Amino acid sequence: MAEKKFNVAVAGATGAVGNQMIRCLEEMNFPVQSLKLLASHRSVGRTLRFKGELVPVEELKEDSFKGLDIALFSAGGGTSQTFAPFAAKDGCVVVDNSSAWRMDPEVPLVVPEVNPHAIAQHTNKGIIANPNCSTIQMVVALSPIHKKYGIKRIVVSTYQAVSGTGKKAIDELFDQTRAMINFLDYQTKVYPHRIAFNCLPHIDSFLDNGYTKEEMKMVNETRKILEDDTIGVTATTVRVPVFFGHSEAVNVETKDPVSASEVRALLEEAPGVKVMDDPQQNLYPLATDAAGTDLTLVGRIRADESISNGINMWVVSDNVRKGAATNAVQIAQVLAKEYL
Ligand code: A2P
Repeated sequence: MAEKKFNVAVAGATGAVGNQMIRCLEEMNFPVQSLKLLASHRSVGRTLRFKGELVPVEELKEDSFKGLDIALFSAGGGTSQTFAPFAAKDGCVVVDNSSAWRMDPEVPLVVPEVNPHAIAQHTNKGIIANPNCSTIQMVVALSPIHKKYGIKRIVVSTYQAVSGTGKKAIDELFDQTRAMINFLDYQTKVYPHRIAFNCLPHIDSFLDNGYTKEEMKMVNETRKILEDDTIGVTATTVRVPVFFGHSEAVNVETKDPVSASEVRALLEEAPGVKVMDDPQQNLYPLATDAAGTDLTLVGRIRADESISNGINMWVVSDNVRKGAATNAVQIAQVLAKEYL
């Protein structure tokens, strides 16, 4: 029987994640019948390459989704909030990379290695949410531990690349770095402070409780994906002058006792994970190892000697790929294969 093919759209196609979504559809050989590329009116007239063909960029409109099966959205929360329901109304299932729908109880929030069964709930609203980049890589590494030993509490600090903010932020780090090493004045447009040669403990906006939205995304999304509201999660999210690849120092306290070697053995077998953990050989995951791959890299696995059931680890992944585009296309693959 011929393979079923799908009419697909990418909304936000000209952005950093949208562009990677197009690459992922191609690389992962997604069964595309037709591809529609959508962005703002500013991008009309541009073309982008897909499988050797130049595809025109069209303006995202309410009626853009007629006759389509799946739309991958990465055009900002406001755009998803407005346009995803129009897609759903026309029978086109949305996989949305923004935070607009993630905590809606009727919308599944999915990491295919962790909770693929939740994709069945796409019928509720016609929308599936792609989690926050920092959350995705953390739950890929922690889900096997939670399933076997039970997680009581997570303390995480992130070191996040500028590509998570989008194309303008990539340019800002590049321009500021170049200006500084040439002793020239630099401009600060995307971030409130200079990002070159600096670390900003500030991702997304601040909330009344003193945390940032990014930090609270990690708290709430982790519980939703791991399907356990009893897990304690606390996060500090930091923007660092790295182009691609988020790194995380993760401390986890388990219900049942677990040793570092047991965690290492468990993660060696875990889907989507690569253990890189030989400190004597200076082997531990780096952002430069993760960039361009779809794996979540884990190293520095060691006991937290300050508590009885604690483990520390270092978790790294490409935030634009597994943290966004790859995860969205993996969701679309399961959706296409099992539900459409
Ligand atoms: P455009 O390039 O036409 O502005 P990034 O996160 O890398 O900055 O990319 C954001 C993406 O979202 C771009 O493709 C951008 O298109 C798109 N986008 C932003 N606002 C809108 C909008 N109101 N309607 C459609 N697409 C939008």
